[in-house]
Amino acid sequence: MTTSKGRHYTGLQQIAVLANSELTLRRTCNAIARGVAKATDMNGCRVLLLDSKKEYLTTVGAYGLSDLFLRKGPLDARKSLPEVLDGNIVVVSHAPTDERVQHPEVAKSQNVLFIAGIPVLLGEETIGELRIYSKESRELTEEERNFLKSSANLCAVLLDRAQLAQFRDRIYKSRVKAAGALTLPQMAANPLKPTEFAHESEAEFANLLDFYQIEWLYEPRSFPLAWNGADVSQMFTPDFYLPELDMYIELTTMKQNLITIKNRKVRRLREQYPDINIRLLTKKDFLKLLTKYGYGTMGEAKVEGVGRVLHSHTQIQRRVRAIARKVSRDYEGERIVVIGVLKGVMCFMSDLMQYISIPVRVDYMDISHYSGDGEVVKITRDLDSPIGGQHVLMVEDIVDTGMTLNYVLAHLAAHKPASLRVCSLLDRKARRLANVKLDYVGFEIPDVFVVGYGLDYKGEYRNLPFIGELKQDWGRRSQEGQQQ
Ligand code: IMP
Ligand code: MG
Repeated sequence: MTTSKGRHYTGLQQIAVLANSELTLRRTCNAIARGVAKATDMNGCRVLLLDSKKEYLTTVGAYGLSDLFLRKGPLDARKSLPEVLDGNIVVVSHAPTDERVQHPEVAKSQNVLFIAGIPVLLGEETIGELRIYSKESRELTEEERNFLKSSANLCAVLLDRAQLAQFRDRIYKSRVKAAGALTLPQMAANPLKPTEFAHESEAEFANLLDFYQIEWLYEPRSFPLAWNGADVSQMFTPDFYLPELDMYIELTTMKQNLITIKNRKVRRLREQYPDINIRLLTKKDFLKLLTKYGYGTMGEAKVEGVGRVLHSHTQIQRRVRAIARKVSRDYEGERIVVIGVLKGVMCFMSDLMQYISIPVRVDYMDISHYSGDGEVVKITRDLDSPIGGQHVLMVEDIVDTGMTLNYVLAHLAAHKPASLRVCSLLDRKARRLANVKLDYVGFEIPDVFVVGYGLDYKGEYRNLPFIGELKQDWGRRSQEGQQQ
């Protein structure tokens, strides 16, 4: 009794010291994993970080686990001990046959029998997980649970601090760029230890990823490449990991001698870790790659005027699919007429209808706005076919004041459809004047003017595959000459 209590106490003491140390996050977490495994007499442990969308878990520190275990990259948070996400400690006593284990075959081949997941909670929110592994079948005592909870609490503070630091760092970097005033020593004095990029090009690359709303982790993992007996003699730490694309990226410049060395490392990494997706890229290559993945044509001129990306191509597609599924469920057994107002709605409408699984008919209207007295909206192109007695789903790109929608809905209602609902990709509540009910909404957006994915500013930007904020100083929406 006393011995295990003593071990837990010493373990916690060490972890507290580590949490407050000057080590990098990865090293701290490796050491914590070791401390936790030792104190609880486990064979292995890892500290996992949950992404902001709560979809995947990435290893930030590990101890005692073979590479086969870590090799798989991030874990799917919904497939791997999902109840931990709800804040519960989950104990698996026979991993090879438990359906809550995402890779039971790996557990089996590694003789892992026992796995427990302890939520890393920041307040009530799960931000990560401590996971422990044993080759013996065993239980967790009340005392061990308490120790693990305390360790997880320390991890929460640590992970939160690291993320905050990364966030502060990004703000800091953009300020440095803007002001050109702050100097490096001030940055080093920052108690929050921002991400320290080894090269300016990496910081630039991180800014680029931020712009496109692509999540990234800097140097999240080191891969042993060569051994000298039992010691690792060569390691490779790729610069970035992009969870959304499940891709590691090693940045390179055009310098041929560097490219050759790095190519050799990448080749070796691929040989030894065939499941790992890694690319050796220059910034220019990366921009090309983004185009291929649908993030946009990245000639810098094309995004001139765009301040930041609010919703990336992938985020939009995911959301549109979810809405289409809901629509298909809600109207199950029916057929619907989907009606859009040109032109802003074209991208949304064409994606949406492809994901809807019930029979759909499509129609369009066109309108023009007047800024004079009296009528503000006028229909310039009406529907092709009658809608009386049919289920109508009105689709909009964005509902701003709600005046357009209000007018169009009144017009449609007069044709006596069987039902009339509204689906808008964007909802900007801040400027609402007319009270219209939106049945399906893609994203709520703040009070900024947006472009892309069909939405325009003075007729341009519709072809951007993401939704971006128009730069504040890029001019206000002119009332005349405004296009829908
Ligand atoms: P409302 O009548 O004020 O709700 O305005 C709706 C119409 O104005 C939308 O259908 C768009 O065509 C256009 N619009 C409103 N806000 C934006 C924006 O931020 N970007 C591009 N078009 C917009
Ligand atoms: Mg419109």
